Amino acid sequence: MGGAREPIGVIGTGYVGLVTAAGFAELGHEVWCVDVDEEKVARLRRGEVPIYEPGLEELLVKHRGHLHFSTDLADALAHARLLFVAVGTPPTYSGDADLSAVHAVVDAIPDADDRSLVMKSTVPCGTGASIQRVLKEQGRTRLSYVSCPEFLKEGSAVKDFLEPDRVVVGDNGDWAGDAVVALYEPLGAPLVRTDIQSAEMVKLASNAFLATKISFINEIANVCEQTGADVVEVARGMGLDDRIGPKFLQAGIGFGGSCFPKDVDALKQLAGNSGYHFQLLTAVIEVNELQKRRVMSKLVKHLGGLVGRRVALLGLAFKPNTDDMREASSLVLSARLAADGARVSAYDPIAEEEARKLMPGLEFADSALAAVEGADAVVLVTEWPEFRDLDWAGVAEQMSGWLVIDGRNALDADAVRAAGLVYEGIGRA
Ligand code: UGA
Repeated sequence: MGGAREPIGVIGTGYVGLVTAAGFAELGHEVWCVDVDEEKVARLRRGEVPIYEPGLEELLVKHRGHLHFSTDLADALAHARLLFVAVGTPPTYSGDADLSAVHAVVDAIPDADDRSLVMKSTVPCGTGASIQRVLKEQGRTRLSYVSCPEFLKEGSAVKDFLEPDRVVVGDNGDWAGDAVVALYEPLGAPLVRTDIQSAEMVKLASNAFLATKISFINEIANVCEQTGADVVEVARGMGLDDRIGPKFLQAGIGFGGSCFPKDVDALKQLAGNSGYHFQLLTAVIEVNELQKRRVMSKLVKHLGGLVGRRVALLGLAFKPNTDDMREASSLVLSARLAADGARVSAYDPIAEEEARKLMPGLEFADSALAAVEGADAVVLVTEWPEFRDLDWAGVAEQMSGWLVIDGRNALDADAVRAAGLVYEGIGRA
């Protein structure tokens, strides 16, 4: 075994699990996927893809003969020695990560010399050590453990898996670490092979740093509004410094998704649980919460009260190219609008089905132009590419008001103004 023919087990067929499975299939491996959700497994067996992710369906179709889906862990155990764990670690009320799904998987895997857990789920630093301690207490000393965090972004997940900036492998220097390193070798990415705790921390610290960058530029944007500077120009000027870099400096109405909010909180809690108060992350979280509400004061500034006003939201997903609504800024914004008496209509090219489950009071339109009909104000919430090319004269005709708030600084301000509308971005004069 080993090299290109190493069969892989993947436990959990969410974002990370499915992309990992498809990616390893693309690299020539036989992949055995396991999930407790019977309906999901049935759909995957029929060739249906439960999430919207560019390029994923193509890979799953292309490698159909090499991807096996089952609800029975025994199927993966029978074929693979490396068992990638990609189950959810959602936040709990305390802000800590909920590791019950991870522990359920660990409990179900029998001891064996040629078997290893490979942790892809994002877990607090120290999880690997505590799992290994428990395994030892239970006499399951032959099972190996590797931490192999995933850095993929939704919307470009397949590309991120196949062309990673780096591969991080934390292990005990045994066969399993070597085997995981060998799996990733064909990708030619820089490798960080390290101890398990450090690998776990690389993941949390990377997400926390990116979130910090976003909250930082959002605060700069808010100061720009007070001082007449344009945050887009400021970010361009900052980003050309190699040490800063241009990415993740887009000011807007806050970060969302299944990772940043959860992981920043989890790192803050992890620090707190070990007696350290992580002040910076406390501010990053607070800035982000306030940023989601910033559109409200802009609306009030232009429209006065919001009672009975019609507001159209363009985009609902937490970012473009995904139907993921987890922690999306649109959730907070639409709830605030409803609370202030506004009537809210919305259009999202892909996320409507997910959004309907979470936003019962919203009117859903089937195009941007239909959503803005009769609107006093339009708010760009998610910067789907199609909104950039909107026919603004047509929008102006449909609206009953004149206000366009660009929550992602993604629109062509001149084009909006040329249609006789008032444009207001985030942090722009
Ligand atoms: C993030 C990380 O980027 C991945 O590296 C990581 O693997 C992943 O979390 C994870 O831990 O699973 P993701 O949540 O898919 O990926 O999305 P991002 O592209 O990072 O965007 C997160 C949020 O930040 C979005 O709401 C986006 O709109 C916002 N954002 C991003 C900004 O507001 N400004 C920016 O400049 C960039």
